[in-house]
Amino acid sequence: MDPLFQGDDRNKIMKILIIGSGGREHALGWKIKQSPLVSKIYFAPGNPGTKEIGENVPIEVTDIKKLVNFAKNKKIDLTVVGPETPLVLGIVDIFKKEKMKIFGPSKKASQIEGSKTFSKQLMKKYKIPTAQYDIFHNFSAAKDYLQKTKYPLVIKADGLCMGKGVAVCKNKKEAEKFLEELMIDKTFGESAKKIIIEECLYGQEVSFMVITDGKNFLSLLPSQDHKRLIDNNQGPNTGGMGAYTPVPFVDKKLLKQIEKEIVAPTIRAMAKEGCLYQGVLYPGLILTKDGPKVLEYNCRFGDPETEALMMSLESDLVEIILAQQKNKLKNKKLVFKKGFSVGIVLASSGYPEKYKKGDQIHGLDKIDDKDVQIFHAGTKKVDKKIVSYGGRVLLVVAHGVTLDETIKKAYQFIGKKNIYFKGMQYRHDIGKNGLIFGSNYD
Ligand code: AMP
Ligand code: GLY
Repeated sequence: MDPLFQGDDRNKIMKILIIGSGGREHALGWKIKQSPLVSKIYFAPGNPGTKEIGENVPIEVTDIKKLVNFAKNKKIDLTVVGPETPLVLGIVDIFKKEKMKIFGPSKKASQIEGSKTFSKQLMKKYKIPTAQYDIFHNFSAAKDYLQKTKYPLVIKADGLCMGKGVAVCKNKKEAEKFLEELMIDKTFGESAKKIIIEECLYGQEVSFMVITDGKNFLSLLPSQDHKRLIDNNQGPNTGGMGAYTPVPFVDKKLLKQIEKEIVAPTIRAMAKEGCLYQGVLYPGLILTKDGPKVLEYNCRFGDPETEALMMSLESDLVEIILAQQKNKLKNKKLVFKKGFSVGIVLASSGYPEKYKKGDQIHGLDKIDDKDVQIFHAGTKKVDKKIVSYGGRVLLVVAHGVTLDETIKKAYQFIGKKNIYFKGMQYRHDIGKNGLIFGSNYD
């Protein structure tokens, strides 16, 4: 027997707790459930999709005290954290203090996402490629700077803002307006006490996630999110309207370059700064003409990239996480299925602003292809019917041999005769960049 599974993992009856309620957590649960090591999965708080594969417990992701007590009472063997907020609040430190296994970075290490000034200073100190920037602690100094600088530029709040704390500003007027929102109106409260103003970079954006034990790491396939609401990157920013993996224009050489120039130095830098990084590290990258640069770091799995990645992952995720927990990633490998995975988000009418809830979702029983999965994000069960209950409602994710074929496979299940709800909006061009910009991935 693999020595990893001796001791408390030997009986292959692990109970897992997954924290979160979105498509990412549904996809992680779907993958984890396939592990022969797992007997039961709890989701806190979960959604109607996760209820089909485990048990939902009504505890919010920020109620750390209740989560710890639940995990203790149920003798949970491993907890997997989906969203960033509990990580930044220090859930990992608290579980570890109670000697419970939990997958994610400590409070100190989660600063890499929780504070953009922390991560920018880290990148500067350790020469990790990123945009040139300045940090401002007060409105008047930032406003002065806006009078004499070049446009476009990017303004970022320091702390977590549910994905809304960044604006790419084309001119002074736009920049002043966003600065006022952050520092005068205090729309995001303390999160914008400090801000960053940085140069605007150009290129394709790529999500690059690794699983690390603080020293060694295993890279997941590169993936690409689609942040704008409307086709051809138009409309407002969203939490992500779809993703595909792998990205054909990230070839093996570029992948190695990203690992060598960005991932490895970041993990080393965090250890050196006394913030040993263990969990998923997800740098959001932009491929500029001067090479890949970091736009931001996330301290968790990406959403909706994870939904596509879990469809492609062949390896047992639980086995990998257990190796990570024991600092034994060195001799492990992540194996992915050949081909591509594409996930399309179906969103409510009005999203990302005020959106409509309560529309019945039709056609969920129409999926008759083992390479197509539905992951729930914002749904609710009312009188045996599934209705929309969030901005991003669900994802249709397909796996296939070529990118072109996989895109078609996913889209064929969307529409009035298939999966449908009133006012549903989705992008029609998920994966298109992969088709346009190259196919040198082997
Ligand atoms: P972030 O939360 O820092 O990833 O920013 C959200 C989005 O803003 C990114 O996905 C990019 O589309 C855009 N963005 C952030 N920083 C820059 C930059 N320096 N240049 C161009 N676009 C950026
Ligand atoms: N896909 C963007 C994010 O997870 O932050």
